[in-house]
Amino acid sequence: MSTHIAAAAGQIAEGILLPGDPLRAKFIAENFLEEPVRFNEIRNMFGYTGRYKGERVSVMGTGMGMPSLSIYVNELIRDYGVKRLVRVGTCGAMRKELAVRDVLLAMSASTDSAVNKVRFHGMDYAPTASFRLLSAAREAAVARGLAPHVGGVVSSDSFYTEDPDQWKLWASFGILAVEMETAELYTLAAKFGVEALAILTVSDHLVTGEATPAEEREKRFRTMVEIGLGAVLS
Ligand code: HPA
Repeated sequence: MSTHIAAAAGQIAEGILLPGDPLRAKFIAENFLEEPVRFNEIRNMFGYTGRYKGERVSVMGTGMGMPSLSIYVNELIRDYGVKRLVRVGTCGAMRKELAVRDVLLAMSASTDSAVNKVRFHGMDYAPTASFRLLSAAREAAVARGLAPHVGGVVSSDSFYTEDPDQWKLWASFGILAVEMETAELYTLAAKFGVEALAILTVSDHLVTGEATPAEEREKRFRTMVEIGLGAVLS
């Protein structure tokens, strides 16, 4: 038991998938894992451990945004010894070379959050994916006939920004998409010397205004989970 997670010692696997939505964690446990056992329901932030292709793996929601993810990821690594963390989430595309439904592997995560400014006393840190997990995920995606984008995302503290054109500055520096969690995930993984990756599907497009219908999001979500499981068990 840690401050926010009710699992007993040893109940969480070394590899974990992290969707934002706890009901997505339940969906993954019920549709992909053999004999899933729920280890957490505090705040309805469901977490499960089961087996995938015979190997032990866990899945847990993180909630939305870096403060929520940070609490769970700190405790998963520090208190439960998790070593490989793969976020499976959605993002808003900011550049024309991406289309809705595309898969993106986040190589780096810029941020508008002050969290790393505070942590690094005003200096800049560059949150970066695990190259090993990134390569494994890319191979798993290519084996499924996909051509995932690989590049930088921006993890924002605001879904509703004061300036509706704020994203254009990031886009002009080559940032592919916006989401709200990856910079903190990569920073914590580096701090604790473990591996992390974010696999994202484009749910909406800031350039074209398109969005994916719910049923398609589920289909794409399944593909992303398979790629994530391939990486986390690599
Ligand atoms: N902004 C921030 N986070 C997101 C978005 C977005 O447009 N789409 C999916 N996650």
